[in-house]
Amino acid sequence: MVFSPQFLDEIRARLTLSDVVSRGVKLTQRGREHSGLCPFHNEKSPSFTVSNDKNFYHCFGCGAHGDVIGYLMQAEGISFPEAVERLAAEAGLEVPVSSPEEREQAQRRAGLLEVMEEACGYYEKTLRSTIGKKALAYLHGRGLSDETIARFRLGFAPQGNALKTAIMTDAMPEALLAEGGLVRKPGDGRPSYDFFRDRVIFPISDARGRIIAFGGRTMGDGEPKYLNSPDTPLFDKRRTLFGLAQARRAAHGQHRILVTEGYMDVIALSQHGIEEAVAPLGTALSESHLALLWKVTNEPYLCFDGDKAGQRAAGRSAERALPMLAPERSLRFITLPAGEDPDSLVSTQGASRIEELIARSAPLDAVIWALETAGREFDTPERIAGLEKRLEDRALTIADRKVQFQYQSLFRQKVRDMITASRNPAGNVGGFQRGGQGQDQRRVGGNFKRGGGGGFGWGGRGSRGVAPWEERRAGASLGGIPASGSRSGPDILKMRQGQVLLAAILNHPDLLDMFAEDIAMVKVSNPMLDNLRQEILKVYALTENLDSEGLKTQLNKQGNGVILQSVLTSDVYVHAGFAKQDAAEESMRTGFLQVLASHLAPARRAELENARRLYVNEPTDENWERFEKLKKDGPGAPGTEAPAG
Ligand code: UTP
Ligand code: MN
Repeated sequence: MVFSPQFLDEIRARLTLSDVVSRGVKLTQRGREHSGLCPFHNEKSPSFTVSNDKNFYHCFGCGAHGDVIGYLMQAEGISFPEAVERLAAEAGLEVPVSSPEEREQAQRRAGLLEVMEEACGYYEKTLRSTIGKKALAYLHGRGLSDETIARFRLGFAPQGNALKTAIMTDAMPEALLAEGGLVRKPGDGRPSYDFFRDRVIFPISDARGRIIAFGGRTMGDGEPKYLNSPDTPLFDKRRTLFGLAQARRAAHGQHRILVTEGYMDVIALSQHGIEEAVAPLGTALSESHLALLWKVTNEPYLCFDGDKAGQRAAGRSAERALPMLAPERSLRFITLPAGEDPDSLVSTQGASRIEELIARSAPLDAVIWALETAGREFDTPERIAGLEKRLEDRALTIADRKVQFQYQSLFRQKVRDMITASRNPAGNVGGFQRGGQGQDQRRVGGNFKRGGGGGFGWGGRGSRGVAPWEERRAGASLGGIPASGSRSGPDILKMRQGQVLLAAILNHPDLLDMFAEDIAMVKVSNPMLDNLRQEILKVYALTENLDSEGLKTQLNKQGNGVILQSVLTSDVYVHAGFAKQDAAEESMRTGFLQVLASHLAPARRAELENARRLYVNEPTDENWERFEKLKKDGPGAPGTEAPAG
């Protein structure tokens, strides 16, 4: 019996957990929670809690945890279907009896899954046999390791009817193979033939990792380049994302998921340590796809080619997402250099290049703004009004009221900023200035460009494969909304952050061996502190084998004693224990990196961030050394990517 999630939710909604529990356990209410003696282990003082709001129980003593269904199963030692049936009766719900058709369908699906698994095994085996040599060489030639090939279960479908010959049996009859899309039966009565022939095979799995379809790539120039299984009872292209099963696991750790264009992107990224990537199967991203992604993470990153077609596709995805936005739930957009895909980038430039692009990703509102403004001039009241109207219409497609309101305010503000910038051309490159400046280079393409003081807008650099929203938010703030995402240059540290950073360096000057260059690039807002920063760099440059005492002594001698004391105080350490002299090496390094990385130009930041991520996940000396190497070689240098899987 398969219960639909909706049905189970209905049960949970109708029953009050504490009512069910209190039949066997004496509960007392404390605020919004109930507590009592845990029925699942022996205890004298209550550590068993029930939350009706959250719909679960939890025991702090033995860790027992679950919802109302789990409770009944555990308390009465019954099976899941039995618990569901009993609770459904209690909730006054009819248990949906599975009809004979439904039962038959469930059986057929199980049969199909078996066939797909069998076929997958066959393709895998064939890739490693003599006839698979060419295909294996092809995959190696594309930079894939044997480990990656095995992990994604890549295979080879030979010419002719090899699969059919190999796996068709009485238990796996032709009809089943045809239903699974593995063989095709012509209408005119001729015998069926293998669907995939002479292609490299990419198995496609469902979210649980069960094979439901295949993609097959030619190794030559044949058409189509990729052939995907037809839709079957198991496989619906518009609801499937390649790589989702693997990505889901990784995504939860990373809190992110990258949506790329194709099979090879997902696989290449994974080989370079970025496992949280998926791809649709030759279709645009559908609403079902978005829903799947939002189950994993709040802000999936979508990658698009920087060329015109890619940017149009980005616009369409943004448009499609608008009605589905919710508080915290959005998309971010990554623009790839024109003509590149994540596969080509990560293979030639390593994972840090991808991290860099992620760090420079644009929010959804910027994409919508660009969609409505790119290639246009706003030099008359009517044109500005037109823009306002189109933006308003866009915002109105957002179903969530709070998000809709925010979009409306943001767009109004941006239009106002645009007008203000146009009226203050001084220091601005007012691309939409009035007057007969038709020949003005700056107006070509009809874009208004970022003004020196305006702090808004974007340059029309589409021809260079840079998205129109790429430079957005380069200014300090936009319409009162603090800048987020990309910044164009080194940042200014607030006083407290400056103190923390300087304290860490004063106590651990060997940080400078690796970060002097970065410290030289940031500024501290407080002039005294910034002066100390520069003094430290000078002492560092002039002294060999500098240690903490030496550095402090030297600075003291030069008359920096007071400012030094203001930095090395418990007041500062309260905010950042890692900066202390006796802090553990590991926490010192991660803490320092965190403060520093958030204040660097995007490229540096992405590079640092990637390395930091590796180091934080696994603070081994090896990872620190990898990091050191990366620092030395700079972004994209060979051998600097995350460890190959
Ligand atoms: P691309 O043409 O961008 O190919 O198709 P790619 O991913 O870079 O592949 P390689 O690197 O040449 O091997 C992107 C995705 O579109 C679908 C596939 O899912 C592919 O991964 N596609 C492409 C098809 O379904 N059919 C095709 O003929 C081409
Ligand atoms: Mn490619």
